[in-house]
Amino acid sequence: MDTRYILKVLEASIPLNYSISNLSIFLRLPWLRKSCYRKGRTQPIIGKDLQDKALDDSFREFVSSQTMQELLDKYQGISISDAREIKKHVNIPVICTGGFEQASYIREAISEGFCDAVSIARPLIANNDLVQQFQQGKDLPDRPCTYCNKCLLNALQNPLGCYDVRRYNDDHDKMIKQVMTVFEPAPFS
Ligand SMILES: Cc1cc2nc3c(=O)[nH]c(=O)nc-3n(C[C@H](O)[C@H](O)[C@H](O)COP(=O)(O)O)c2cc1C
Ligand code: SF4
Repeated sequence: MDTRYILKVLEASIPLNYSISNLSIFLRLPWLRKSCYRKGRTQPIIGKDLQDKALDDSFREFVSSQTMQELLDKYQGISISDAREIKKHVNIPVICTGGFEQASYIREAISEGFCDAVSIARPLIANNDLVQQFQQGKDLPDRPCTYCNKCLLNALQNPLGCYDVRRYNDDHDKMIKQVMTVFEPAPFS
């Protein structure tokens, strides 16, 4: 097997862009594998430049607009080029995963034919009302997901939630209180 492809898969798997079942389909289809592998992935969609006012003032004390812009540029739509390649070879809808949390970016990804839909995990953990925010015209939440992956690490033994304390103004108690709201209302009361 092509070593470069294994590396590419590992690289893509760090933010867990492919489920294990998707991966096994990939590995069994050499033509798909070949057409999807490219050196030096480039970001085909350029997100809108973040204005300072796009983010909450207190969030920016811990994560600057520039840092958030860099995070979005790096992680939002990380698999979008691969989704477009897959779409060329299949006649079923292709759903793309990986970092989506900006309405304008998602709109462009779908309208430009990169994918038929997107799925969202971490940004919905950070902002479980993300879709409603989009519906109300917001392009990006005031306190976006920073892709730190702490939710994933904590999922092994702690309640599902956002564990990036910077999103809670470095207030650990506030963070835990928010995480524990998953038990409200109590399931067996
Ligand atoms: C807390 C958590 C649990 C996850 N569990 C699984 C899982 O069991 N199986 C899987 O294939 N992907 C799992 N993922 C990966 C997501 O499905 C998704 O592919 C990945 O987080 C990238 O999407 P995102 O940028 O929208 O988070 C998990 C992600 C998170 C954050
Ligand atoms: S813990 Fe990090 S990756 Fe997970 S939702 Fe919060 S900011 Fe996003």
